[in-house]
Amino acid sequence: MEHRASITIVLLCLAACDAPVQLSTAQIARVKQMGFPGAPAPDPTNRFADDDRAALLGQALFFDPHLSSTGTISCATCHDPARAFTDGLALNRGISQGVRNTLSILDCAHQRWLNWDGKFDSLWSQAHGPMLHPREMGNSFERIVARVRSEPTLRTEYEAVCGALPEGTLTSAQSERVIANLGKAIAAYERRLTTGPSVFDQWVEGWKLAGSPADLSTVQEGQFSRAAQLGLATFTGRGECVTCHDGPLLSDGEFHALGAAPRDDLIADAGRFGAVAALQSNPYRTSGPHSDDPACESAMVVDSLIAQPDQWGAFRTPTLRNVAQTAPYFHQGQFATLNEVLHFYSTLEGAVTMDHHRESILRKTNLSQREIEGLLAFLNSLDGAPPPSRWTTNPWK
Ligand code: HEC
Ligand code: HEC
Repeated sequence: MEHRASITIVLLCLAACDAPVQLSTAQIARVKQMGFPGAPAPDPTNRFADDDRAALLGQALFFDPHLSSTGTISCATCHDPARAFTDGLALNRGISQGVRNTLSILDCAHQRWLNWDGKFDSLWSQAHGPMLHPREMGNSFERIVARVRSEPTLRTEYEAVCGALPEGTLTSAQSERVIANLGKAIAAYERRLTTGPSVFDQWVEGWKLAGSPADLSTVQEGQFSRAAQLGLATFTGRGECVTCHDGPLLSDGEFHALGAAPRDDLIADAGRFGAVAALQSNPYRTSGPHSDDPACESAMVVDSLIAQPDQWGAFRTPTLRNVAQTAPYFHQGQFATLNEVLHFYSTLEGAVTMDHHRESILRKTNLSQREIEGLLAFLNSLDGAPPPSRWTTNPWK
């Protein structure tokens, strides 16, 4: 009897798997916004943002272990081009073990706020963070300036792009200016680390050309499998993922507290709470003295941010582009696989109750096995072609 029941279920499932996937009008509107992002927007706060020579200087800096106090750790140690510019570790490891998971920098030029907590408001201001962080590269202003002065190619290229290096003992404003310039060159390089259209993007293009039909079976499938289409329907429908993971990056770029429990060996991370004050007092903020357009609209927004208690434990919604390549997941690398992430969303198992601070929009969704498989296929269709290999090694070696 039991045996027969399970056969019936399997047959029902097979029939349902073949059923055409239908999107509602609301889902169609969401999917239309999810395609390929194109080139990053200009950054008026960085005058070198799209300067080729600056980008090459930035590329050399990115692969230079001498930017660390030990001479052993470069940006690429943690952001390894062979691992989609991340390290494959739950928690980053530089001079010593850190407390957060390494973010990929692929497509990071599209981000409004950088890092898990959005502590930086531009790509160029983010770069001094790891250089000076005691657990990451552990360096100081003095040693970094000394390195730029003493390494001939670095010095020549710095001066060609940024102007003469000041001589003698530098004031703190002068040192900050050198660090800001190095950050701007690194950002010019990072702006090139965008990925090409994914299987999903190509399918969206075709679907739009076909008039964005509700019945997905009327569109040529290509590599975007039926399972992935079902995943897209769950993502934008019952799974409620698109509430936060929307637009071309599959991220709203904003901060949400999901309540995933901290790792056993770490305390809970305050996330966005505290980052707002740090940002507003940071001399490298886009409205600060080293910005090339401190009065631009986005810089003005930074000065008017207000710290709120509901930012406690909130993290930036990560982009899901290339997500299949960037395990482990979440800010402390709490989840080893995408399957574990989906189990969390389905059950909210182990979630920390944060009383009224808990995000009211995140609900337990009780995903079925079929929905989980669909979501996995969908998430696996979001890998874009990596940047050309000439941008993934030290250009001076
Ligand atoms: C020891 C490992 C380590 C090193 C070295 C390191 N990073 Fe990171 N990187 C991280 C971690 C961890 C994060 C997330 C930090 C956070 O949220 O607090 C991150 C975040 C970033 C981000 C933000 C991406 C996003 O989507 O918001 C950028 C950009 C970045 N790093 C660039 C660099 C650059 C440039 C260097 C070298 C100057 C560098 N990193 C060196 C580990 C590292
Ligand atoms: C309320 C907003 C919200 C909703 C709804 C939501 N997410 Fe997320 N997602 C986030 C945030 C914020 C994080 C980072 C959480 C952290 O680190 O603590 C995240 C992390 C992730 C990650 C890990 C990415 C990485 O690089 O570490 C994946 C994968 C993911 N979400 C997929 C989904 C899927 C699939 C759904 C629907 C079943 C979903 N999300 C629903 C906001 C949301």
